[in-house]
Amino acid sequence: MEIIIVESFDEAGDVAAGIVARAAETDPELTLGLATGSSPLSAYRALSARVDAGLDLSRASAFALDEYVGIPADHPASYHEVIRLEAVLPLRLDPARVRVLDGRAADLAVECEDYEQAIRDAGGVTVQLLGIGTDGHIGFNEPTSSLASRTRIKTLTTRTRLDNARFFDSPDEVPRHCLTQGIGTILDARKLVLVASGDHKADAVAAAVEGPLSAFVPASALQLHADATVIVDEAAASRLR
Ligand code: F6R
Repeated sequence: MEIIIVESFDEAGDVAAGIVARAAETDPELTLGLATGSSPLSAYRALSARVDAGLDLSRASAFALDEYVGIPADHPASYHEVIRLEAVLPLRLDPARVRVLDGRAADLAVECEDYEQAIRDAGGVTVQLLGIGTDGHIGFNEPTSSLASRTRIKTLTTRTRLDNARFFDSPDEVPRHCLTQGIGTILDARKLVLVASGDHKADAVAAAVEGPLSAFVPASALQLHADATVIVDEAAASRLR
């Protein structure tokens, strides 16, 4: 695992954007793995600047990591809407090539199987962007998720629901369930790029990077990956030895 410690969130985004941009220059038809939440925002901003400067992502495909169950796709906190506003529009991705799990599908298990198949049909994910939860989750794979898990329905922990309450009008509105790529699904991506910023992420980063491989810290699964880069600002790196 490569650990890159930078001074600021913006610098973290710039480094992550550089990795994605190099992959896209090598293969304009690459498949991106998109995260939501705050962590990837500086990377999307930096990538968007590169797109404005001529980087072409219009032939890329993309898959989001996860989605809440039960809220409409146009709800401001739904990951359909977040991916549309934070990634598809600024990166000028082709919306027809971008897929987000449907958390209102009639059969959620079938939706998850179809999603796995669609990723396989796309040839797998070339570069997967990741954030990390304060409890060490990646995607919405909460602690004790199987390190071999595939895309499926999960229950959000109280901690994650509280962490994400800022995106909703009230904490009660945060859905209790989600669909998420599994840890095994994430590990299939050819390159993983995790961005973490702020001292509230410092314990999770230290446990993921320097702690034992454990289902209690889903992000520790990155230790199993041959090409994983963790980009952290100084606050998020503050508990590393
Ligand atoms: C979201 C996702 C989550 C977040 C994590 C950190 O697609 O996969 O794992 O990356 O909850 O969230 P932020 O970045 O908002 O602190």
